[in-house]
Amino acid sequence: RIVHVNGDYLPEEDAKVSIFDRGFLMSDAVYEVTSVLGGKLIDFAGHATRLARSLRELDMAAPCSEDELLAIHRELIARNDLDEGLIYLQVSRGNPGDRDFAFPGPEVKPTLVLFTQAKPGLADNPAAKVGIKVISIDDIRWGRRDIKTVQLLYPSMGKMMAKKAGADDAWLVEDGFVTEGTSNNAYIVKGGRIITRNLGTDILHGITRAAVLRFAREAQMEVEERPFTIEEAKAADEAFFTSASAFVMPVVEVDGAKVGAGTPGPVAARLREIYLDESR
Ligand code: PDD
Repeated sequence: RIVHVNGDYLPEEDAKVSIFDRGFLMSDAVYEVTSVLGGKLIDFAGHATRLARSLRELDMAAPCSEDELLAIHRELIARNDLDEGLIYLQVSRGNPGDRDFAFPGPEVKPTLVLFTQAKPGLADNPAAKVGIKVISIDDIRWGRRDIKTVQLLYPSMGKMMAKKAGADDAWLVEDGFVTEGTSNNAYIVKGGRIITRNLGTDILHGITRAAVLRFAREAQMEVEERPFTIEEAKAADEAFFTSASAFVMPVVEVDGAKVGAGTPGPVAARLREIYLDESR
């Protein structure tokens, strides 16, 4: 695999980042995951805009322009002959040469890393045909989940709690309401209405979420942006989640209770189809 580090294209085994890099020592880094279908980047503009916002919110310098980032994504697709998969991008505050809580000055440049992940069959994921199971867990993450930082320890733990419970993923609950999934935005459908938490600092502003809600409204589906509870999810007609790596994924079980018929519902199936058709 050919990866990108600070302007260079290298075989992955030759790519190096300092042990003093703040991404490594402090989780002082932000990231984006963009999908690739048929060699085409899906919604690059949305991901680039969110990256710029994450950097701004953390007072972190941009490693290069948006056009340069696009060129790097395209170059990696070409060099790795990537047809279907993901591109991971990470920007950290760089390497100050030692460990210190205070941010370094502008002389320390950000570290930019990108790599591809080939995922043949990503769009035809068989899980989308049977749906997945989620458990609910407490949301104990920090309060700025709208910034896409690499602080992913708790989401990783949530994923492991789900696996241990025989499920696939976890939905996070705060003050009685679902915030989002470990790495996706959460939705229910009740009486034809699509319900998903409104944007704020408590969830990531999903790029797939924005696209799916736009397509839903264009298709005259009713959308309600408000928090919902796990009890509502269990009693819903359908549930699903969205992310750049899973697109629209039906959820058929919540905390062991079947959602609707316990099979993927028509709204999720339709939104998945529209999303894949429109983005490709
Ligand atoms: N995760 N919420 C969280 C906490 C996420 O980590 C993600 C994305 C989303 C969905 O956002 P988007 O539609 O822009 O992918 C929501 C990525 C895919 C990841 O960490 O791999």
